[in-house]
Amino acid sequence: MEPISEFIQESNKLKIIKLLESTRRKNIESLLSYVTETDYFIAPASSKLEHHAAYKGGLAFHSLNVYELFNEKCERYSIDLPHEERIISALCHDLCKINFYEKNILKDGTQSKDKPYNVCEQVPLGHGEVSLYRAGKIIELTPQEEMLIRWHMGQFDGNWENNSRYVREKCPTIALFQNSDIEASRYLE
Ligand SMILES: [Fe+2]
Ligand SMILES: [Fe+2]
Repeated sequence: MEPISEFIQESNKLKIIKLLESTRRKNIESLLSYVTETDYFIAPASSKLEHHAAYKGGLAFHSLNVYELFNEKCERYSIDLPHEERIISALCHDLCKINFYEKNILKDGTQSKDKPYNVCEQVPLGHGEVSLYRAGKIIELTPQEEMLIRWHMGQFDGNWENNSRYVREKCPTIALFQNSDIEASRYLE
């Protein structure tokens, strides 16, 4: 997919801020300051063209897509999960990608087209784990949010197989959340 325009980036940012504010979660304004002060709204969602949203604003675009898909699925299946928990889980699931990518500048001074970014790992605690850690340091997460954020990678997480039975039991929406993440990255970005 093509990079998104500055206009769309700005509109995604406003939508995300509005959604987070609507949760009225304690300390949500601190979470808003955190995402605004870091590169959350301008970071890509991956480093390579063959992956998803490897362009400026990709992380915010992806997070919003996951929210929209997940919310649609929850409505469709009449899932009993409060709207605010859907918002927080989706918009925080990839906080691990904050300050995680840097531009891949070639010798001629231009940014690589095939691999626009390099990974710059600062907190090697694991993918879902870092998102959980970052969000949980600022706001109090519900048990459902914790499990959705931690296990959103599903089959792509080395620890999934050992834990999947228990996670599915305690968090009935996990499959919908994992599918939303995959669908967003494969079909929308
Ligand atoms: Fe992720
Ligand atoms: Fe994701």
